[in-house]
Amino acid sequence: MTVPRISNDHSRRKSSNLEAHGDGSEHNDHDKEKPHGTASPEGKTPSFNHEKQKMHKRYLNLLKEEFLKLYKNPIEYEKSPDEFDVIKTIGAGAFGTVFLVRDTISFYYYAMKTMEKSAIVQKKVVRQIIREKKVLQALSFPFVVPLEFTSKDNGYVYFVVPFEAGGELYTLIKNTGALPEAWSQFYAAQMVLALEYLHHCCVVHRDVKPENILINASGYIKLVDFGFCKIIKTRTWTLCGTPEYIAPEIIMGKGYSYTVDWWSLGVLIFEMSTGYPPFYGANRAKLYDKILIGKFKTPETMSKITKSIIRHFLEVDPTKRYGSLKTGGYDIKSHAWFHETNWDGILHQKDIPPYIPVCKDLADTTNFTSRSEAKLKSYAQPVFEDEFADF
Ligand SMILES: Nc1ncnc2c1ncn2[C@@H]1O[C@H](COP(=O)(O)OP(=O)(O)O)[C@@H](O)[C@H]1O
Ligand SMILES: [Mg+2]
Repeated sequence: MTVPRISNDHSRRKSSNLEAHGDGSEHNDHDKEKPHGTASPEGKTPSFNHEKQKMHKRYLNLLKEEFLKLYKNPIEYEKSPDEFDVIKTIGAGAFGTVFLVRDTISFYYYAMKTMEKSAIVQKKVVRQIIREKKVLQALSFPFVVPLEFTSKDNGYVYFVVPFEAGGELYTLIKNTGALPEAWSQFYAAQMVLALEYLHHCCVVHRDVKPENILINASGYIKLVDFGFCKIIKTRTWTLCGTPEYIAPEIIMGKGYSYTVDWWSLGVLIFEMSTGYPPFYGANRAKLYDKILIGKFKTPETMSKITKSIIRHFLEVDPTKRYGSLKTGGYDIKSHAWFHETNWDGILHQKDIPPYIPVCKDLADTTNFTSRSEAKLKSYAQPVFEDEFADF
């Protein structure tokens, strides 16, 4: 299915370590809501129940064991950048460039994220990048990009992951204006499963946004960019993320937990449903004021059920937010907005995606914003060897 282009605004929002510091329709009508339209006929049994969630938890326990094993004893798959042919520049990373590359032996296509060591050291994020590698090496889930290879040379460190040809969810939203509800539900469901998995492994992502969600050639998503991820046992304090997607408890600076990712998912569902994020401000201080109050305007055309699920995620009090309640993922999965969602079908990628990107071949980059070709600097001598000894 092709999507009409109605906007050319491709200015991505920047993630960063952030130095501190309409009339929201008050919908508290969750109890009253009924399945909407023809999507959920009255009397239909909800597609999700406690028993299914219990089984899912058991599956997550197994995945967590695997994660912990690999986190403690990582398997290193190194491959020198010389073993790849660079085909095209596809992304601008925070510390370098992302290229479409082809393995010179297997001919498989990959995305190679390059990061300049000097830029990483200058921004004081060496530990973060090493953490990104360690966590990605141990993660394995259908909607999380798998790390295939890493390497380092004189001037750069490299992450090599499979190339996802469908482009960023960000581009899809910009080109479509607002996504049809079934599309938003499909992408949100995968994010729910991915976040449940990550949090079960004690990983908080901290930069959930459409720029970091890629669509693969078959139409399913992959969450990328673990540059801000962290393993947390109780709480953490760093002010980081992308301003429009940041949760109020991060701004408050009193410590936060996994709940911040569920907030970002609420922002994401709003943006998919409307084409724009719920909170905006002339400057960062004004934006943060709005986030702290948690007031946002929803368009009149938005269904009650959509408003309800968004409101459950954009709940300023993290202890009352969906995803962090005692019943965890069950609340989300049994919400009326997801009544048509076949959770198993999505987890096992058996459902037919509502939108399948046009990819004429495995190396098609037309779903990505075109960029001028970047070139890596050449370093005659290795730099910052000590700093990157653990990479
Ligand atoms: N596996 C991939 N396939 C295709 N494009 C990718 C892939 N990984 C990253 N990209 C592109 O590169 C961009 C930057 O990558 P990301 O990991 O988010 O780095 P950064 O931390 O610099 O934001 C992404 O937003 C996306 O456009
Ligand atoms: Mg990113």
